[in-house]
Amino acid sequence: MVAVPRKPDATPIVVLVSGSGTNLQALIDAAADPAFGVRIAAVGADRDGIEALARARRAGIDTFVLPVTDFPDRAAWDAALAECVGAHDPALVVLAGFMRLAGPAFLARFGGRTLNTHPALSPSFPGMHGPRDALAYGVKITGATLFVVDEGVDTGPIVAQVAVPVHDDDTAETLHERIKISERAMLVEWVGRLATAGYSVDGRRVVPGSAPHPPDPKDIP
Ligand code: GRF
Repeated sequence: MVAVPRKPDATPIVVLVSGSGTNLQALIDAAADPAFGVRIAAVGADRDGIEALARARRAGIDTFVLPVTDFPDRAAWDAALAECVGAHDPALVVLAGFMRLAGPAFLARFGGRTLNTHPALSPSFPGMHGPRDALAYGVKITGATLFVVDEGVDTGPIVAQVAVPVHDDDTAETLHERIKISERAMLVEWVGRLATAGYSVDGRRVVPGSAPHPPDPKDIP
């Protein structure tokens, strides 16, 4: 069982991105309100020149970029990613459209406290093309899934899901854009809840607010 405790102050998170960063922007906007209880300590990416990094820089957030091709192999990249994220000492890591799999070194350090969002209703349609695959299958309802990252592809314990209708005239793009509206709202709601209330992961169940809180120093004899 993994327990991520509630933090008394704004909870530092690191967000990892690869693309347009609309999910990141939703978190940036939410974190502007101190009541949200979350501070984005840094934004990391596996490529430069993406809008997600521009969004972070405009918001004055520290950024780092680690292209896989700058490293001799995946293990070296994975270790460097763990180091860069760890330098910001986050309570949570949020993968928001980060198109890389976390490797063993990263999971050894951040397993249980890394969240990812996937534009499909897990366990259906894992992988890079959730909206396209849902459309091709002919489902009438799809959605988005927020989960705790494990070593699989979109297989980790589920934090939350949101359902989204498929329209008859949808393309993969229109469907994905509709999913992303609900996905962003779900991400903001649950990152805020988990960061401020803590949570436990017990097998496949994510239990919000159930982590032991750190003792108040004045209560320690
Ligand atoms: C999201 O739908 C996410 O689930 C998927 O890629 C999309 C990222 O969108 N992996 P954005 O970069 O946050 O706009």
